[in-house]
Amino acid sequence: MKKTILPLAIIACIFSCRDDGDNFSSTISTETGETIVNYATVDSMFAGIIDLNKLANYSNQDLPTYITKDNTLGNSISNEGATLGRVLFYDKELSIDKSLSCGSCHKQVSGFGDTKLQSDGVNGGLTARHSMRLINSRFSTERKFFWDERANSLEEQTTMPIQDHAEMGFSGQNGNPNLNDLLTRLQEIEYYKELFAFVYGDSIVSETRIQNSLAQFIRSIQSFDSKFDVGLTQANNLNANFSNYTAEENQGKLLFLSPPNQGGAGCQSCHSAPEFDIDPNTRNNGVIATIGSTTLDLINTRAPSLRDVVGHNGVSNGQLMHDGSLTSLAAVIDHYNLITPNQANNNLDNRLRGGGGPGGGQGQSLNLTQTEKDNLVAFLQTLSGTDVYTNQKWSDPF
Ligand code: HEC
Ligand code: HEC
Repeated sequence: MKKTILPLAIIACIFSCRDDGDNFSSTISTETGETIVNYATVDSMFAGIIDLNKLANYSNQDLPTYITKDNTLGNSISNEGATLGRVLFYDKELSIDKSLSCGSCHKQVSGFGDTKLQSDGVNGGLTARHSMRLINSRFSTERKFFWDERANSLEEQTTMPIQDHAEMGFSGQNGNPNLNDLLTRLQEIEYYKELFAFVYGDSIVSETRIQNSLAQFIRSIQSFDSKFDVGLTQANNLNANFSNYTAEENQGKLLFLSPPNQGGAGCQSCHSAPEFDIDPNTRNNGVIATIGSTTLDLINTRAPSLRDVVGHNGVSNGQLMHDGSLTSLAAVIDHYNLITPNQANNNLDNRLRGGGGPGGGQGQSLNLTQTEKDNLVAFLQTLSGTDVYTNQKWSDPF
């Protein structure tokens, strides 16, 4: 059994900051006035999976020196916080009918994305857009999240699906419970009393604490064991040929990195290597459909990192783009090879208008040969790792 002795100030808060008179069965006051939290429920529920005396390493993972972008602002990863985040991420208590968790739509085997076009939400609903992979979410210049960037930070993002009526359902609308009801629900759960006390010094469940721990867990999900990483480490120069690459993969890399006016495909200007994160200033890329509707969806200007865009050996991590309209990397390359601007698309990025400004330009025509297309696909497949799909520390602890 593990014991934490809480500082007196926090003990005072436990008893005075709450007014509902709950008894803290996991909190024991001793004769000397110390408060001891025991972790009996966590110990027994997650036996062999989570050991609070020997936490998995989330905070101090190896990071290649060439990875420099980081969207963490003041909520850096701790092993304690990410462990709580892991439990929350996989806990079905976070949906109104206890039917699904974050992990139901963000599956580890699929790069924390979903192979379903639209993911199943509560009450038989479906998500409006395709689920996004959550690999290397931390390593970007962009700090906003979702396809349309409607969340201003990862922290803010994490409680939005909980409150989405079609996702986890704590919307507070049409008689449905709201986020406060969820906080009350979690507050009653013994393992959360223990885990929140373990991480934050007292067992109070708050929205901010949920956001911070979920964001820490998601930021910890990193993948840097790809063929690309081996090559870049050896070459120490993004533009040099990689000695572990085939000639095809090296040509694909060159095409990815080079702008269209130099015979390249121009991908680097929006999905910048080595993080392959999205340019915060891009507008849409010409994929503008809404699933199951003829309404145009022009506001999607974010993509997850192109690392692990497919799984190892080209295995699908699910359909691509916000509307899942492209089902293979080959189809993606065909899309960018020829973009004919839709007159109704006033938000197409200028870089894809073939040189013209908004309203002008004939669209993008890269004129790639079949070999060049194949080589681009071969290169994109080198961006996938292996560890992230199987590492226990990111798996379901329930
Ligand atoms: C019912 C399926 C579903 C559930 C449950 C769900 N998500 Fe998502 N998630 C999605 C979809 C769909 C999107 C893209 C939605 C959009 O952009 O409009 C998304 C997007 C995200 C993103 C944005 C990624 C990026 O790169 O911008 C994050 C982060 C995320 N989800 C985390 C979570 C967390 C944390 C939970 C649990 C609290 C959760 N999701 C629960 C389906 C789901
Ligand atoms: C002008 C900026 C821009 C350029 C140039 C660009 N992209 Fe994109 N890319 C985007 C945006 C924005 C999205 C998100 C689109 C959406 O789903 O609505 C995206 C999405 C993608 C996706 C889907 C990601 C996912 O998780 O489903 C892939 C794959 C992709 N791009 C590959 C490429 C390749 C390869 C090139 C070069 C041939 C390229 N992109 C050039 C902006 C760009």
